[in-house]
Amino acid sequence: MNFELTIAPLNDIKSDLQIIMVVENDLKHSFIHDKKLLKKAGFKGGQDETVLFLEHDRLYVGVEKISGANIRTATASAIRALASTKYKHISIASYMNSEKCTAMLRAMVEGFILGAYRFETYKSEKSINPVKEITISLEEYHGYTLNIDVCAQTLNRAQIVAEATNFTRDIVNTTPDDCYPDVIAQIADTLAKENGLECTVLKPKALKKEKMEALLAVARASRHKPRVIHLAHKPENPKAVISIVGKGLTYDSGGLSLKPGDYMVTMKSDKSGGSAVLGIMKAVSDMNLPIEVHGFIGAVENMIGGDAYKPDDVLKAKNGKTIEVRNTDAEGRLVLADVLAYAQQEVKADYLFDFATLTGACVVGVGNYTSGVMGNSDIPKNLIIDAAQSSGELVTKLDFNRYLKKTLKSEIADICNISNTRYGGAVTAAMFLSEFIDDAHKDKWAHIDIAGPAFVEHVWGENPHGASGAGVRMMVRLLEKLTQHKV
Ligand code: BES
Ligand code: ZN
Ligand code: ZN
Repeated sequence: MNFELTIAPLNDIKSDLQIIMVVENDLKHSFIHDKKLLKKAGFKGGQDETVLFLEHDRLYVGVEKISGANIRTATASAIRALASTKYKHISIASYMNSEKCTAMLRAMVEGFILGAYRFETYKSEKSINPVKEITISLEEYHGYTLNIDVCAQTLNRAQIVAEATNFTRDIVNTTPDDCYPDVIAQIADTLAKENGLECTVLKPKALKKEKMEALLAVARASRHKPRVIHLAHKPENPKAVISIVGKGLTYDSGGLSLKPGDYMVTMKSDKSGGSAVLGIMKAVSDMNLPIEVHGFIGAVENMIGGDAYKPDDVLKAKNGKTIEVRNTDAEGRLVLADVLAYAQQEVKADYLFDFATLTGACVVGVGNYTSGVMGNSDIPKNLIIDAAQSSGELVTKLDFNRYLKKTLKSEIADICNISNTRYGGAVTAAMFLSEFIDDAHKDKWAHIDIAGPAFVEHVWGENPHGASGAGVRMMVRLLEKLTQHKV
């Protein structure tokens, strides 16, 4: 899909179809041509509601009220509604009514690209998106004058971040035997070559040397050997140094604490955190942001077999702490313990974030569509909350407390890999991770549990069935914001 910005009024643009957004309850407005037809069609202008008038080559889409998040899902619905048509060139107004105008433009473009995404690698017949050209009219709106250069940059960044999100979606959706740890490493390596990133891949021998015994234990029963990947974007005079760690479980069977069949389906998505790191590194380098960004991925498969690690084992993590394994399905935190320690050894960062499909408890707590952000300090957590809000992703804070911390105590090792209570599982998992954050990074770290939104088995908002690319948009937004202030 090609995008073009023009200052020409919408009605002067020659296109095959116009998309018109209608604010709910605002149907009486004079600029709406097809009022009678809309009424006849029963169109109410509810959020994401669409109606296509073939005779007039107009598609109407409802928005509850003008906001970035609403525009994003509306254009995603609009482009989906055109999937089986033959409309090649579409035009739309920019709906920019304040200084926030670029946020609307960004959301609009992201919505089109995110909404048009399809995962069809395994389909014999592929669908073709008919829409090749989208022209956006920047005609002066409510007397607000637009800066065309700023709009062009907004368009460019919207395309980059949406395409990076789709890149992440493709990786997550790929099946576990087509996407195992070495494949993740190859994807990282190719990306590094294309985008001028530094790339280091640690294989089992190097992992042993780095004393990543917890990660190696999780990996042991799989025929696919683990990899730890470090990608780096290093511009000159960076405004900040940021490390991002991702859980990359290319499959999570649960290990010997085997998941029941129903819970195992979709566990190819347990690599979503690591895949988000790949998407973030792609976007950051495509945008050439003046921030030094380090991405670390723990790519591992959690399987069963004669060589599997066991409940009752005690593992020694990279930072020297001993862990009593009580459940091999709480494997993500074991992998992250070592990769977080490695990331901190390699880079002294201004902020350290990790993305992980860490707990079912997070999904139980806040639902399918929302991530949980946790950590010791409000500063990195607030950065995530703010950035998520402007990106259209949903994130909420889940607080630590000292009572839950006690539930991770072990009688025989420094800590257990699961808590002794059924409740608060997202928080106790994050508190476990916190044991592997050194003092220098304690207040610079935030953990984002993306277990809910990373993979949902139906269409929601701008997201398709399957992988959503959770984390990419919020993190890229955060990094963009950091380029504007002093860290
Ligand atoms: N990968 C899962 C968490 C998960 C669950 C992600 C559902 C996405 C959807 C994780 O490794 C896991 O199995 N966690 C256990 C922890 C428990 C054993 C303490 C869980 O959440 O049940
Ligand atoms: Zn698990
Ligand atoms: Zn897992």
